[in-house]
Amino acid sequence: MRILGIETSCDETGIAIYDDKLGLLSHELYSQVKLHADYGGVVPELASRDHVRKIIPLIKKALVDADTTAEQLDGVAFTQGPGLAGALLVGSSVGRSLAYAWNIPAVGVHHMEGHLLAPMLDDPSPEFPFVALLVSGGHTMLVRVDGIGRYEMLGESLDDAAGEAFDKTAKLLGLDYPGGPLLAKLAEGGVPGRFVFPRPMTDRPGLDFSFSGLKTFAANTIRDQGDDQQTKADIARAFQTAVVETLVIKCRRALEQTGLNRLVIAGGVSANKSLREALQTMMQKNKGEVYYPRLEFCTDNGAMIAYAGMQRLKAGQHEELNAKAKPRWPLESLPPV
Ligand code: KG4
Ligand code: ZN
Repeated sequence: MRILGIETSCDETGIAIYDDKLGLLSHELYSQVKLHADYGGVVPELASRDHVRKIIPLIKKALVDADTTAEQLDGVAFTQGPGLAGALLVGSSVGRSLAYAWNIPAVGVHHMEGHLLAPMLDDPSPEFPFVALLVSGGHTMLVRVDGIGRYEMLGESLDDAAGEAFDKTAKLLGLDYPGGPLLAKLAEGGVPGRFVFPRPMTDRPGLDFSFSGLKTFAANTIRDQGDDQQTKADIARAFQTAVVETLVIKCRRALEQTGLNRLVIAGGVSANKSLREALQTMMQKNKGEVYYPRLEFCTDNGAMIAYAGMQRLKAGQHEELNAKAKPRWPLESLPPV
């Protein structure tokens, strides 16, 4: 079986062709980062318009690169939510229209399920059950995963998502949007231990997160200590260490609570080298396994949507052609496969 995957939930147009026997045949990504950089964040209306401009040429290119014709496709998967309403509408309209024209099923995919399953695009891929740490620009979640669509929410962010905290703190440090990767780079030159940021909500039981206080802490530190280049690097270092340690503490706790010893991390922030290394070290000590997507599939992409869509299509699940985009859509409400 072969499927076309379409991702347009935020500021990346991602398209991929996935075959259940041959694996990923092609994938295309257009990032709107430059378009939004001047505004310091994603401008929803501009995002929607740019998806409209890019989506068809990228689909054509993905089909050519995969040496695939419409007749060879068994379905079209599109990100149905959560995300920006206008941006989702582009992918969902194009996805459902193509499915109608080609007379094949349209599969609405949950964006976070896409992230969650992204490590399965590579070998070795994690076996169920596992604990997943999903850390993106919009979400921070710890989930017990017993199978596709069998998700138990263990904890989530009560305010800013981890990626959002990175981006907001990066902005305070004068970095461009999205600041996460730039802050990580700046932190490399920072002196460890010059500043110590709090590890929010680690001193009490539970698996929820709160990251919004960290940007205030960063703002106060900048005000008190000045903003010369070295100080900025030291602040970036302290911020990153605090986020990473907080995530590690909560992951360890989630594994203890569930009795599991397999961890998957996914979402944009899972590209963070320091986080990957810290979780690797923790899991080595625990004699457990840790999995993360290859770097290009940590952030938004079409491959993860094609993969997740394929799993649901194989289980006979698909949408009516009048299916609506779902800007808000709880992960736990998904049906099991
Ligand atoms: O998953 P994603 O591409 O989009 C959403 O679904 O939100 O995640 C984007 C987020 C942004 O906040 C970005 O700053 C962050 O992931 N990010 C990083 C790194 N790479 C991307 N944060 C820290 N370190 C990185 N290397
Ligand atoms: Zn995402």
